[in-house]
Order: sequence, then structure tokens, then C-alpha cells
Amino acid sequence: MEERLHPNLALKRAGAVDIVRIDREDALGALNFEIMECLGDYAARLQSDASRRVLVLTGTGRAFVAGADINGYDGVGQAEFDLFQRRSRRTFDIIAGLPQITICAVNGYALGGGFELALCCDIVLASRKAKLGLPEIKLGLLPGGGGTQRLARLVGAMRAKELLLTGRMMTADEAVGYGAALEALDPDELMPRAVALANELASKAPLALAEGKRVVDDGLDSSLSSGLTLEQRVLGALFASDDAKEGIAAFIEKREPDFKGR
Ligand code: COA
Repeated sequence: MEERLHPNLALKRAGAVDIVRIDREDALGALNFEIMECLGDYAARLQSDASRRVLVLTGTGRAFVAGADINGYDGVGQAEFDLFQRRSRRTFDIIAGLPQITICAVNGYALGGGFELALCCDIVLASRKAKLGLPEIKLGLLPGGGGTQRLARLVGAMRAKELLLTGRMMTADEAVGYGAALEALDPDELMPRAVALANELASKAPLALAEGKRVVDDGLDSSLSSGLTLEQRVLGALFASDDAKEGIAAFIEKREPDFKGR
């Protein structure tokens, strides 16, 4: 059953997986201040909820999110615009830093802030109906939700510049070729694949799952040597966990492990 975080945000909980659906078809999922705040508040609660292991983000109809709500920019003063950008950054940063694994199931347009939301996720799956891009330059603007930085880190500086300076949209297959999405799927296959992957990830040893994400992200932010040191420390700590003892014992006893997350 779905509950509402906001009139435009639906939440479905299944096992250890949360599915958040942006539901604003008439504006192609555009994110206004209230939706952005609500999403950030939800993500802030999620980060300390150990019962939730995987978050799937998706949209409704022909769009995931077609960006920030451009209508909300009309007549807005500089201070209000700056506040929106700061508060958006809070939402994007919390989502990017979640201990849960995040999967973005891009069902349609993922433009501007929509593509940036996808870039905050660990895994992007895209419907072949999707179009992904950073069109802000067409408004005389640039991305403000991490697009210039996260995209360049993911696909390289040259591809990121070409995309954000032309503002053109990519197909799902092109996004996969660039490394900005993991898989391009037929529209009917998108959610089944996202949910199956989410369930598979949610069944893994919880500490190793969260640490596996963190060690990659923190390692990419540091030198190779620091990253390798972090990797060894994390492995050492995992070796001391009950879950590792259980995983090793289960392998030797030829049975399924029963991980407790400690
Ligand atoms: N903010 C607010 N409303 C938006 C929106 C946005 N980012 N993107 C689309 N919408 C609204 C349109 O205003 C329209 O509303 P209306 O029916 O009340 O006129 C509705 O969604 C449908 O959009 P429309 O442009 O008619 O659909 P389309 O199929 O012709 O084009 C897009 C689809 C995605 C190419 C086009 O809507 C678009 O370019 N959107 C803006 C993308 C953007 O620049 N994002 C970055 C924002 S910083």
C-alpha cells in the first residue's frame, strides 16, 4: 500500500525496500520548493532507519522529473532563489550520502534537477522512453544540483561539458554508453527490474552492503593510497562482525546465512 509523504510524493514500503514515486504528471514531475523539502526531510529520516536497506526512486507517467519548477522561478527575488538552491543542495547531499543503496528507475524525462537526482543515486536504470540531460543552458542558467560536478566525475569532463553546454538530451542507451546509467530497459521491464535488484541487494549482509557503498564513494574522494587504507580498515572491522562469522559458518555448513546487521 502506498502512503503519501506529500500530495506529489508517494511512498511504498516492501520488506526492507522503500519505493518513492514522484507523482506530479501535469508538470512532468517538476520539483518545487515544497516537494524538494519533503523529499529532503524523508531522506533525513531514512538515513537513521536501519530497517530500510534500499531506496528506489521513480516517477509517474512520461517523466521522472523534468527539473526544478520553472514557473516557481518567475518573479522570484535573488534571496529566495539562493535559498531554494541551498535547500535543494541539502536534499541532494542527503540522498547522495544515504547509507542505504539507492536505485533511480528513470521512467521518462530526467532533466536538470531530475537528472541530478539520478546522479545522486548508486544505480540508474533507465526506460527506453527516458530522456536524460541538463538543459539549463537553454534558460541562460547552469545546473545547481551537482550536475556539473557529479556528471563530470561519472562520465568524464569532456562528455559532461558537451552535455551541459549544449543542453541536449540523451537516450537511455546513450546514457548507458556514457556510464550515466547501468541498464536501458523496455518500459514494462523497468520497475520489475528495479524491484528485483532492490530485493537482491536488501538480502545481503547489511553492514557489508552499506560499507561497500561508502568505501567506493569515500575512496573516489581521496587518493588511491588513502582509499586502499580505508578498504583494509573496513574489511578488518567487517571481519570482526557477527555477520561475517555467520557468513563464513553458513558457507562451511552449506546453508543460507542469517545476517543480523551487527
Ligand atoms: N517546470 C515547470 N513546469 C514544467 C517543467 C518544469 N521544469 N517541465 C514541464 N513542465 C510543464 C509544462 O509547463 C507543461 O505544463 P502545461 O500543460 O500547464 O502547459 C507540462 O509540464 C507539459 O510540458 P510540455 O512542455 O507541454 O511537454 P512537451 O512534451 O512539449 O515537452 C519537455 C517536454 C520536458 C521537453 C519540456 O517540458 C521541457 O523542456 N521542460 C523544461 C525542462 C528544463 O528546462 N528543466 C530544467 C529546469 S531548471
